[in-house]
Amino acid sequence: MVGFILGDVRGWEYGMPPGGWIDIMGVDPRFHRRGIGIKLIQAFVQEAKLQNMKTHIAIRRQDDDLQKFIRAGGFQPGQLIEFEM
Ligand SMILES: CC(C)(COP(=O)(O)OP(=O)(O)OC[C@H]1O[C@@H](n2cnc3c(N)ncnc32)[C@H](O)[C@@H]1OP(=O)(O)O)[C@@H](O)C(=O)NCCC(=O)NCCS
Repeated sequence: MVGFILGDVRGWEYGMPPGGWIDIMGVDPRFHRRGIGIKLIQAFVQEAKLQNMKTHIAIRRQDDDLQKFIRAGGFQPGQLIEFEM
């Protein structure tokens, strides 16, 4: 095994239709930049589509490299904004 992806189904708590949410994923550093991360995302998206659901992922704004990866996977910014106190 060189990578994993885990997620769950949620969204109604945000007033949105249920969707597949990627919670955590990782690829063994020895196998980075070989397209495995994208393949994992594609597999997740495919499973979500089978259930008529979109796929979501939340990351920190300052994680530029991760943002590049997420965008390379085909994601665009969604509808949610986060508040904190
Ligand atoms: C994020 C992660 C899963 C990417 O896995 P990966 O298999 O290396 O990604 P891919 O090879 O599929 O990358 C596809 C594209 O995403 C972009 N990308 C991936 N990693 C990148 C990086 N570190 N910096 C900039 N762009 C990156 C590139 O455009 C890349 O295409 P290219 O290699 O042809 O330039 C991996 O770096 C990782 O496990 N990181 C640590 C854990 C983590 O941050 N998990 C995500 C949050 S839960």
